[in-house]
Order: sequence, then C-alpha cells, then structure tokens
Amino acid sequence: MAPMGMRDDIASVLLSEEQIATRVAELGAAITRDYSGRDLLILFVLKGALIFVADLIRRIDMQVRLDFMVVSSYGARTETSGSVRIVTDMRSDVRGQHVLIVEDIIDSGLTLTEIIAHLRVREPASIEVCTLLNKPSRRQVELDVRYAGFDIPDQFVVGYCLDFDERYRNLPYIGVLRPELYA
Ligand code: IMP
Ligand code: MG
Repeated sequence: MAPMGMRDDIASVLLSEEQIATRVAELGAAITRDYSGRDLLILFVLKGALIFVADLIRRIDMQVRLDFMVVSSYGARTETSGSVRIVTDMRSDVRGQHVLIVEDIIDSGLTLTEIIAHLRVREPASIEVCTLLNKPSRRQVELDVRYAGFDIPDQFVVGYCLDFDERYRNLPYIGVLRPELYA
C-alpha cells in the first residue's frame, strides 16, 4: 500500500503560496526602504527560516550580507521545551553592524530572546526582527518585532520550512497540522 501523502495530514491551508509571496514582497520593500544607505547583515535562523529568507532576500533591492545560526528547541513536540540550544553559531563579526534577524515563527518568544541576548553582548549597531509568522497569544516574554508577515491564531502549522518532527518542511504553503497527529 502506498504511504499517505503529506498533504493528507493537513487539516486546512492557512496561507497559500500566493498569499505568502505577496506578503514577502511587501516585507522586502519595507526593509529596502528602512535600511537604504546602511550596511545590513541578515542573520537567519535555521532550519525553519531557510525558505523564507531565500524568498525575502530576492525582494530586498540593496546590498546585504548573510549569515546564519542553527538553533534547536522543539524536537518531536509542538511546544517549546524552554531551553534553546545554539547548535551552530554565526561567523560574522557583528560589532557596529545593523543586524536583522530572520525567523520563521515566533511563539513563546523564548528562542528569539535567547538569540538577541547572545548577539547583544557583541555590540551590533542595531538588532531588529523579521518573522514570517507571529502567534501573539502565545507570548511568554515581551519582544519587539519590527517586521511580521502574518499574525496567526494558536494553531500548530507546518510547511514553507516549518516542521513537525523534521517533516512537512517541503510543503509549499502553510497548513494547519491535523491535531490528532500530535495529540
Ligand atoms: P518560541 O521559542 O516558542 O518562540 O518558538 C520559536 C520556534 O518554535 C520557531 O523557530 C519554530 O521552529 C518553532 N515553532 C513554533 N510554533 C510552531 C508551529 O506552529 N509550527 C512549527 N514550528 C513552530
Ligand atoms: Mg522548528
């Protein structure tokens, strides 16, 4: 018997490919406007922000540099363990640089708070955050988010590089995972 396709595990499409592309273009235009004339270092968080950053930087019409960090916190769960592990650190010297952190989604806010604290001691000129998705109702810590693609309800979503237990990242849209799959 053929295994069920990943699309069968999606209860509903939350954001289509077209909706995402439109919003990503708007974010890119806003970033271009806000940072024009300044040096910008884009620091993206792997693996979840991989597809978002790939699309976003092609909508930013100015010189940027890229670096990344690999962090891990969830594993095969749908809620943060509360402890964020930096698996791979960035390599750039961020001292005096304008840094824009690019994330896939902000839920509790703990991951980004950790990353920002980790960056701040290296004295960048500025730190701002750009996230594709934001779940404001889930926040455990206060966080200043300069660019947010979409505020979404408290549902676990996958696709466009967001995963559940490392799967569904290659789904081209963002869908709500059927809750019985992780309940
Ligand atoms: P936070 O530390 O609770 O803000 O969680 C941020 C990280 O949790 C993100 O970078 C994602 O990797 C993951 N995450 C949070 N919510 C979801 C979701 O709905 N789907 C997939 N991953 C999520
Ligand atoms: Mg993840």
